[in-house]
Amino acid sequence: ISLSAYNTFMINAKCETLYKVHSVEELKSILSAEKAPFFILGGGSNLLISKDQDITFLKNEISGREITQEDDEMIHLTVGGGENWHELVLWAVENGYGGLENLSLIPGTVGASPIQNIGAYGVELDQVFHSLNAVRLSDGKQFTFHKDDCAFGYRDSVFKKKYKGQFFITHVTYRLTKKNHQINISYAPLAARFEKKPTIKQVSDAVIEIRQSKLPDPKVLGNSGSFFKNPIVKQVFHDQLKQEFPDMPAYVMKEGYMKIPAGWLIEQAGWKGKRVGDAGVYKNQALVLVNHGTASGPEIWALAQQIISDVAEKFGITLSPEVNII
Ligand code: EPU
Repeated sequence: ISLSAYNTFMINAKCETLYKVHSVEELKSILSAEKAPFFILGGGSNLLISKDQDITFLKNEISGREITQEDDEMIHLTVGGGENWHELVLWAVENGYGGLENLSLIPGTVGASPIQNIGAYGVELDQVFHSLNAVRLSDGKQFTFHKDDCAFGYRDSVFKKKYKGQFFITHVTYRLTKKNHQINISYAPLAARFEKKPTIKQVSDAVIEIRQSKLPDPKVLGNSGSFFKNPIVKQVFHDQLKQEFPDMPAYVMKEGYMKIPAGWLIEQAGWKGKRVGDAGVYKNQALVLVNHGTASGPEIWALAQQIISDVAEKFGITLSPEVNII
């Protein structure tokens, strides 16, 4: 089976077995019939497939949206893990539910959203997350994880660390507002667009416009969004670098730590808009690697290695991938 339709880098690697999973019951029967290891696929939008795969792929296609709790102020919305993320955001905005608008147009699925705690334009998923339901692959047992169980961090959760690859997320429950929405325009280019407090629809529309101007549409140009994480460095190290590179942007993280935009580091290292064969660095956002045609997984990975090594040499910072590499 070709995996090219299942990853937004459009890499044409192959696998032997792929199941589309539509329900918890179906998942359980697959797990009891098939041998490990398994790999769970959502939208394939945060994935670099480096070679042909002999593991069993489980594509999450569990659908459905249900309001599971409601009062005057808020709802709990429980959504199937296979639902498309952006369609969920549009639906929430149209129905007047606040909380997801800053996360408009992020590719991928609902089930993947907590794994790397998706975030953009001042909001991270953990701010609207209530709980999730998951099935353990090793024994088919069902679990509920609440927010405190998930160890959310910047592009991070327990599902990328201790429980990596162990749970299939069947449903996610979000806590959304019905009124008194927490409008967040802390991201400067977003704030610059509004003179007075915007509505959730206006925030969503603005985020969509910003993303379309900076980020390539994976349907047109294969990519997986940000390829690397923005590195978090100690304040003292930042201060030293800042003396040498006075134009370097940076954001305060927690006390004593700064986050430096990897896109800036890569651009300064001379890689923005460059390509090696069909593997390239996007012209409008150096943090995004793209497939201009028929680049293979190893070719994209080789480009990533060159970037890592050039950035390390120039700045003494080792970038780490944000995408999953299999
Ligand atoms: N910059 C450059 N050159 C570039 C790109 C960026 O100099 O080519 C500098 C600029 O100073 C710019 C700053 O980097 O102001 C930050 O750039 P941007 O606002 O585009 O955000 P980012 O830090 O590159 C992160 C997320 C994105 C998210 C945006 C907006 C990560 C790894 N990426 O990118 O998430 O959309 O912020 O909040 O944290 C993704 O995860 O796939 C993703 C697209």
